[in-house]
Amino acid sequence: MSLKQRIESGEARVAVIGLGYVGLPLAVRIAETGMRVDGIDVNVGRVARINAGVSEIGDVPSSALAPLVAAGMLRAHTDFAVVSEVDAAIICVPTPLNKTRDPDVGYIVRAAEQIGAHMRAGQLFVLESTTYPGFTREVLAPMFETASNLKAGRDFDVAFSPERIDPGNDRYGVRNTTKIVGAMTPDGNEAVVALYGRFIDKVQAVSSPDAAEMVKLLENTFRAVNIGLVNELAVMCRRLDLDVWEIIDAAATKPFGFMPFYPGPGLGGHCIPIDPLYLSWKMRALNYQARFIELADAINTGMPTHVVRVVQDALNDQGKAMRGAKVLVLGVAYKADIDDFRESPAIPILNQLVQKGAAVDFYDPHVARFVEEGHEHVGIEDLSQLGSYDAVVIITNHKAFDCQDIVDRAQLVIDTRNATKKVTRGRDKIVKL
Ligand SMILES: NC(=O)c1ccc[n+]([C@@H]2O[C@H](COP(=O)([O-])OP(=O)(O)OC[C@H]3O[C@@H](n4cnc5c(N)ncnc54)[C@H](O)[C@@H]3O)[C@@H](O)[C@H]2O)c1
Repeated sequence: MSLKQRIESGEARVAVIGLGYVGLPLAVRIAETGMRVDGIDVNVGRVARINAGVSEIGDVPSSALAPLVAAGMLRAHTDFAVVSEVDAAIICVPTPLNKTRDPDVGYIVRAAEQIGAHMRAGQLFVLESTTYPGFTREVLAPMFETASNLKAGRDFDVAFSPERIDPGNDRYGVRNTTKIVGAMTPDGNEAVVALYGRFIDKVQAVSSPDAAEMVKLLENTFRAVNIGLVNELAVMCRRLDLDVWEIIDAAATKPFGFMPFYPGPGLGGHCIPIDPLYLSWKMRALNYQARFIELADAINTGMPTHVVRVVQDALNDQGKAMRGAKVLVLGVAYKADIDDFRESPAIPILNQLVQKGAAVDFYDPHVARFVEEGHEHVGIEDLSQLGSYDAVVIITNHKAFDCQDIVDRAQLVIDTRNATKKVTRGRDKIVKL
């Protein structure tokens, strides 16, 4: 039976490697559609919790995970030996930047080494972790070939399929977000379309893994550049004494040719601030400067400093210095209603406020504490003392924040998200980005 036939018959077994924000929702979705899933993760505690039916990922309730684990449809492992038993393996490990802001593909390489030790002919390997165009074909496939003495495209297949998870999005999840796939051969494409077609409504194949890698980079670069544009517009509007949100909302009434993006304190998360730099890095190696990406990155990474300047000016207008001021940061998650603080602009903002001598606390209903460069930051437990702060800075627009109550009790509010849009009382206390 061919791989495609095994997938179509439902007999195929799948491994998901990396059980984080991307891998766990995927593993659960596959298991829900009746295919057995073996999850593999190097995080021993995470594996134990998954096998106990406990999810740490916001988009996966434990009530969805536990029955699948109990039924034997989903098992987590720390050992890669199970790779030899599966028909397909999907890799969802992190792809961050290193200290010099260059791609760090080390997690993929380490996972690939382990997979290589257990792989066999006839299998399909799909990389979902964001990477630069050419990585799957030029780096990953040869690693598997060297480890196994088999030939990619003949003895086993390799594909890239960009992850499109949007944490916290109730409307679009794994099932109803179209999946792009690109394998190294037409047969590989048939197998990967059959695989994802079992548990995703719509799957679209492109001509190669490189094309699929570039699709992801276009999507995320599109967001990074447009957010960079409105962030610069916010900086310009401030100098012009205009309200950037009023301008964007008015422009958004145009029914064609305009799509609203909104400014904020800076980009966050694992994708938008990072992925475009995978492309600009690759282009540098080809002697081409990706100017839009680098400009947007410069503007977006400058936003935390801009926010701190706005806080300083707002305090100054009240006759107060930053040094010694009590400042409360509301929200450290990188976007609303989630608990993920990776790359959050709240972190440089907190650090810069502290460097300027402010006494800073934070409160986030979704993030009680976080660790940054080995240093643990612990949030305050409630907002009972809100009125005692010289300034309250809204960084994340969590639904849990009652903005009217915050404005009522605060001395001064710096709102970087237009979270206070609907607030009617005390607007004179609000300073927007
Ligand atoms: N989180 C998102 O919103 C999102 C969206 C789209 C794309 N992505 C991309 O998806 C990829 C995964 O991101 P994520 O958010 O799921 O990361 P994550 O940190 O939440 O999860 C990654 C998991 O991989 C595990 N891991 C690390 N090294 C491993 C190894 N060698 N073998 C096995 N497991 C290993 C970690 O322990 C962790 O549990 C990244 O490339 C990211 O850019 C993320």
